[in-house]
Amino acid sequence: MTADQNSDGEQTEHKRRLRYRGTHPRSFVEKYKELNADKYAADVAHIMSRGQTPAGTHRPICVKEILEVLNPKDGETGLDATLGWGGHTRELAMKILPTGRLFAIDVDPIELPKTEARLRGFGLTDANLIIRRINFAGISQIVNEAGTLFDFVLADLGVSSMQIDTPSRGFTYKADGPLDLRLNPNKGLSAAALIRKLSADELAEILADYSDEPESVRIASAIVANASSIDTTRQLAAAITDAVPRMVDSQKRKTLQRVFQALRIAVNDEFAVLEQFLTLLPYCVKPQARIAILTFHSGEDRRVKKSFQEGFRSGIYSDWSREPIRPSAEEQRENPRSSCAKLRWAIKA
Ligand SMILES: C[S@@+](CC[C@H](N)C(=O)[O-])C[C@H]1O[C@@H](n2cnc3c(N)ncnc32)[C@H](O)[C@@H]1O
Repeated sequence: MTADQNSDGEQTEHKRRLRYRGTHPRSFVEKYKELNADKYAADVAHIMSRGQTPAGTHRPICVKEILEVLNPKDGETGLDATLGWGGHTRELAMKILPTGRLFAIDVDPIELPKTEARLRGFGLTDANLIIRRINFAGISQIVNEAGTLFDFVLADLGVSSMQIDTPSRGFTYKADGPLDLRLNPNKGLSAAALIRKLSADELAEILADYSDEPESVRIASAIVANASSIDTTRQLAAAITDAVPRMVDSQKRKTLQRVFQALRIAVNDEFAVLEQFLTLLPYCVKPQARIAILTFHSGEDRRVKKSFQEGFRSGIYSDWSREPIRPSAEEQRENPRSSCAKLRWAIKA
């Protein structure tokens, strides 16, 4: 380490940049430029122009379409039920200024404070933007705090790129990390603890029901048989691929994606939580309120579609999106992570 002078003439410690092999950083910790987007804006823009999501960030999906559906206006009270990196939150908040209020919630205790600090840096004070760490299944609690029903609600389901890409969160088979998969690592069982608790039949049911895994029985037996020695994402990935040795690599990758997705849904009880949210939602919004929900797999979309369809038939909703809105071809090209997204909306009667 050497000494530098800052603009006030004080001596500061100069840290050498991380050294990595080759021309591009590969592991998460080496991506110091992406993790410091304010300082390396040009590098981050270049990474995005290649269709990649810079480490430690999240690219909000269908922003234009969501703003059209929700049509937020000055003076309104809205809820962003999935704050994440705050991309949608920031856009929505700007539309309700100067007199409206946007509530934004998330369960993630690691990312939420970082997002809050970033959004406060854009001049959004807690008079206009109220951020809370709450599960959206507890939407009634946030309505009570607001003291009024909402004019619009957004939910952008699933996980953020920061959660997926940070190996220590254990969300991906692509990097080694503790097998965790919890959105809130302070609550509930990690995936490693869950697989030790389940029988092979129970796990096979989870894999089949939550991600339509065709090899659910074979894979569940292999995981449960080895559960006591599976603590990391790579160990789980090895147990899965060893169970399907004849598959070609592309099939193995899809299988890994499905099994990790099913375990994530189970660990975070995502379907029960979504159903509870969908049940309470119409009672938390004003007449003519606009609701938008972005989903990323069929299990989520099926539930949202059913809730809006039944709500329309029973007169709770005056209109809803029979066909989902998809990200434009351009957005899918620029951000491949958007390619499976489906946006559905409903209007409260
Ligand atoms: C796809 S990301 C949202 C990204 C965000 N719209 C943005 O523009 O950055 C989904 C977020 O929802 C959060 N989340 C998932 N389930 C939740 C729940 N039941 N309650 C609250 N937040 C939840 C996750 O922790 C994650 O941060």
